[in-house]
Amino acid sequence: MALRGLLILVVCEIVTVVNSNRDEALRIMNNVPVIDGHNDLPWQLLSKFNNQLNKVNLYTLNDTHTNIPKLQEGKVGGQFWAAFVPCDTQGKDAVKRTLEQIDVIHQMCAHYPDVFLCVHSTEGIAEAFRTKRVASLIGVEGGHSIDSSLGVLRTFYNLGVRYMTLTHSCNVPWVDNWLVDTGSDAPKSNGLSEFGKNVVLEMNRLGMIIDLAHVSAKTMKDTLEVSHAPVIFSHSSAYQQCKHARNVDDDVLRIVKEKKGLVMVNFFNDYVTCSRVANLSDVADHFDYIKRIAGYESVGFGGDYDGVPRVPQGLEDVSKYPDLVSELLRRGWTQTELEAALANNLLRVFKEVEQTSIRMSSEKPKDEPIDYQEIKSDCHTSYGYPTNTAARAHVGKGLLLLMCFICTLFL
Ligand SMILES: *[C@@H]1O[C@H](CO)[C@@H](O)[C@H](O)[C@H]1NC(C)=O
Ligand SMILES: *[C@@H]1O[C@H](CO)[C@@H](O)[C@H](O)[C@H]1NC(C)=O
Ligand SMILES: [Zn+2]
Repeated sequence: MALRGLLILVVCEIVTVVNSNRDEALRIMNNVPVIDGHNDLPWQLLSKFNNQLNKVNLYTLNDTHTNIPKLQEGKVGGQFWAAFVPCDTQGKDAVKRTLEQIDVIHQMCAHYPDVFLCVHSTEGIAEAFRTKRVASLIGVEGGHSIDSSLGVLRTFYNLGVRYMTLTHSCNVPWVDNWLVDTGSDAPKSNGLSEFGKNVVLEMNRLGMIIDLAHVSAKTMKDTLEVSHAPVIFSHSSAYQQCKHARNVDDDVLRIVKEKKGLVMVNFFNDYVTCSRVANLSDVADHFDYIKRIAGYESVGFGGDYDGVPRVPQGLEDVSKYPDLVSELLRRGWTQTELEAALANNLLRVFKEVEQTSIRMSSEKPKDEPIDYQEIKSDCHTSYGYPTNTAARAHVGKGLLLLMCFICTLFL
């Protein structure tokens, strides 16, 4: 009898501790909600509805990780929505399709003005926090989206894009992607090419955050060296916890710490445990690990919701962030550390990116185009390229033929 009483007491104690952790998590997040680095809802809107927002109700949408009630339950106060288009658009309609994904994010804010506030600055995020809306930011996922054009990059900035992931899962003419590290893609630029370095510097000048999720290890190091501003990994986890090339190894984590950048932990099972199954506790291990190597000022949340087919048990959708915060509290994370991971780290990096842009404001925009040979294809004209162009080659060939013809007349 006494034993049974003791048992009940112990169980009650555990339940109380778990509940009080969750209450504490909610208390913290009511004040400092999560800013997540990467969510692919816009891709779901394209895939399921061909971007016809009139045919969607984001309150009742129920076959995605993300909808409005789940965002509210999850205390999501800021979200980088991915303007993602797959690599098979590269050199074809990548720019048009990226513009459409940027537009659908703007449409989300227009359709639900009480829920989403489209913003493009740290000040804008603060305003969204104050008015209890989801600060909605745009991240372009993959350098193929700019089709090797600095003009397109600047235009994206003008449309509100505030980060660009340098690659998705393909090389682009000026930078190598993570598949180079698995051996399934051959290196092309061996990290960043000279043009790639100019893209990075132009992003610094504009005030666009550089995102190193999806790039090769050499690209990570090249960019960390070249960039004048801290960088983020919008959705990547710790390599030493799961040896997947999409994750970040310790040598890079140490540079990120030194440069005051940010790794936002990806929840995709395959990157968390290197297997098809994972749970909330496995994700918390990545948070602990990155905190240990890079410090609490360089860790954040980058769930990759609606971009991946498998998410961990306990983190099924965007309503679950408080459960993860609760687990981190249980593991001894302080309020300051949690507030840093939730929002303050991203705000610090973004602020520093804004300051870098102000510091560089007297510099002229970069205008050196990429070599025509790098983009030559049936889908590209050569306007503006004075030498070495397809048109010249044509004229040259014609001249040669004419000369041969004249030669035969004399022989
Ligand atoms: C999900 O939404 C669809 C379409 O609105 C609806 O028919 C269905 O009953 C919903 N399912 C659940 C489980 O709520
Ligand atoms: C989570 O999964 C790990 C194995 O990856 C296991 O050791 C642990 O007990 C699980 N935790 C929970 C709470 O299910
Ligand atoms: Zn991704």
